[in-house]
Amino acid sequence: MKILVTGGTGYIGSHTVVELIKAGHEVVIFDNLYNSKEITLDYIKKITGVKPKFYKADMLCPEEMEPIFKENTFDAVIHFAGLKAVGESVKLPLKYYENNLSGTINLCKLMDKYGCKKIIFSSSATVYGSPASCPITEDFPNSTTNPYGTTKLFLERILSDLTVPDPEWKVILLRYFNPIGADESGLIGESPNGIPNNLMPYIIQVALGKLPELGVFGNDYDTPDGTGVRDYIHVTDLALGHVAALNRIEKTEGVDIYNLGTGIGYSVLDIVKAFEKANNIKIPYSIKPRRAGDIAMCYANPEKAKRELGWEAKFDLERMCKDSWRFAETTLRNEE
Ligand code: NAD
Ligand code: WQD
Repeated sequence: MKILVTGGTGYIGSHTVVELIKAGHEVVIFDNLYNSKEITLDYIKKITGVKPKFYKADMLCPEEMEPIFKENTFDAVIHFAGLKAVGESVKLPLKYYENNLSGTINLCKLMDKYGCKKIIFSSSATVYGSPASCPITEDFPNSTTNPYGTTKLFLERILSDLTVPDPEWKVILLRYFNPIGADESGLIGESPNGIPNNLMPYIIQVALGKLPELGVFGNDYDTPDGTGVRDYIHVTDLALGHVAALNRIEKTEGVDIYNLGTGIGYSVLDIVKAFEKANNIKIPYSIKPRRAGDIAMCYANPEKAKRELGWEAKFDLERMCKDSWRFAETTLRNEE
């Protein structure tokens, strides 16, 4: 199939592009490079032998996006482009609502105009808010605690609404849990700007000696060791989940929703220990107060994706830690 990947130079997008190409799909990427670099295209070529066609375009500017649809005929769109920093979204809500909502509406209008009505959307476990229990199934109630999460919930609704008057629209909403790790080549991975907010990128900065220690946000949660529990999933497994969703989308009637997680919950201290063991590097840490908005526990029931997509996560925590560190040593260390 010929696939348009928005946000395809970003962290999850680039890994998905690699797996799409390996599976024999033709890929076109657009990204405004706000949170990614064009050199990622060269790394994708090194890994797959193929350099995907790239458009530098902003989804807030329909005139920049329209040539992409004029010059190509797509079977489906995989939509990663968006802003994702939870803390920033609290400070700058309009920036998040404008970029994520207006941008996606612009994209959908063009998809409609050019007759490409299949979309796979990057949603998030954040739409489950503070879940009443774990593991979480797709029918759990939705709520959000920050504007970023609200953009995901609104976009799930907007995309679902498209399918009501027009059955040609087929929508798959993928709710990711906590992606970490990197392609085994060490060439592509996650490289956030500034001081990282998320756990694994922070651990990496400590391991590289760029930050002195990890702050563990709370050890008095109702979890086995008191620290927060999450469902960490290897980004390559997540990428393969998109390939599986693409194989399914023709059969989708209206909207399908899938959790993409492993079904296993690990605590912050489990991650620190696993990273230390996998890479033989000490990660100094100290206990800090809880971070505002954090929940105690969040992990998936991934059975629906297994049943309907024939997909399940394969890589274990040791592999996630090894691959995260390989990317840091191979590529991240050389970036300023
Ligand atoms: P990322 O920032 O690495 O990738 C997003 C890409 O979108 C970036 O390359 C950025 O430059 C691009 N982009 C942003 N605004 C754009 C615009 N207006 N026009 C064109 N391009 C634009 O993030 P990621 O971690 O790869 O996340 C991909 C998607 O998955 C996002 O929608 C994110 O919200 C969602 N998601 C991420 C996580 C996670 O933990 N990383 C979890 C759940 C969901
Ligand atoms: C994981 C655990 C922290 C940093 C976020 C978004 C969510 C989704 C994924 C996009 C928690 C603890 C962290 C640190 C720590 N993104 N921690 N010290 O909060 O589960 O999810 O990313 O959709 O929407 O909210 O991920 O990696 O920030 O935190 O102790 O320096 O690590 O308290 O228990 P989170 P995270």
